[in-house]
Amino acid sequence: KELSISKQDQQKMVNVAHRGASAHAPENTMAAFHKGVEMKSDYIEIDVQMTADEELVIIHDTTVNRTTNGTGAVGDLTLEEIRSLDAGSWFSEEFAGEKIPTFEEVLDAFRGKVGILIELKSPELYPGMEEKVANALKERNMDHSKNKKIIIQSFNHGSMELSKELLPEIPHGVLAGLSWAGVTDEQLEAFATYADYFNPNQNIVTPTLVDHVHEAGMQIMPYTSRSQEQANRLFNLGVDGIITDYPEHVYHHPVKN
Ligand code: G3P
Ligand code: CA
Repeated sequence: KELSISKQDQQKMVNVAHRGASAHAPENTMAAFHKGVEMKSDYIEIDVQMTADEELVIIHDTTVNRTTNGTGAVGDLTLEEIRSLDAGSWFSEEFAGEKIPTFEEVLDAFRGKVGILIELKSPELYPGMEEKVANALKERNMDHSKNKKIIIQSFNHGSMELSKELLPEIPHGVLAGLSWAGVTDEQLEAFATYADYFNPNQNIVTPTLVDHVHEAGMQIMPYTSRSQEQANRLFNLGVDGIITDYPEHVYHHPVKN
């Protein structure tokens, strides 16, 4: 049954605004990130890719087609071309003129205000991306363990091994799609040699998986919750955080019984 949640239990569940509060503003824009902060998320999740002139930008798809008024692959466009696009109108006219943010712009605007869960998106397309991300963090003195609010994750696990070598004090995460439903304890132990988080598709999360991830010494923050029922299920499975388009769902889950 639905009961109100105590403040103590709220604090235990990390609330991650997926691509910003992307149910309420166009994903991966400054508007969506500000909305995530306004809605009291603990982290904003951002997808990082690289332009033709090797600048880091924030966009989910490997083309600009779905979320802007332009066309083409992110890696074929220059920063100037990318910055000329409208990344808001597809969502609603209210957001017309929103731009694709740069990685550095997001770091500078949100450091100290909210945690940043940085996903390296398709790093296999962008050689040298891990170094560029590491350098942007180092230039800002954001590469130290005292900074508890930066996490780097990717579906490309080799990229995370490399990134962890470049940024040993920063927590890293492995993303795991549906094909990892049968992940073994040995595989989890191997991930734990460089990763602090195992962040799976919510549909493969079971009580056993949660236990085994914890036994391997990692935390688990599944993606992507898009309904109150999904958030409630994840909460009751004992996950550490929920990656959601709706930050409000994470604060309305039922008390465990
Ligand atoms: O944070 C994990 C989640 O964002 C992974 O899926 O496709 O939304 O980047 P995707
Ligand atoms: Ca993502």
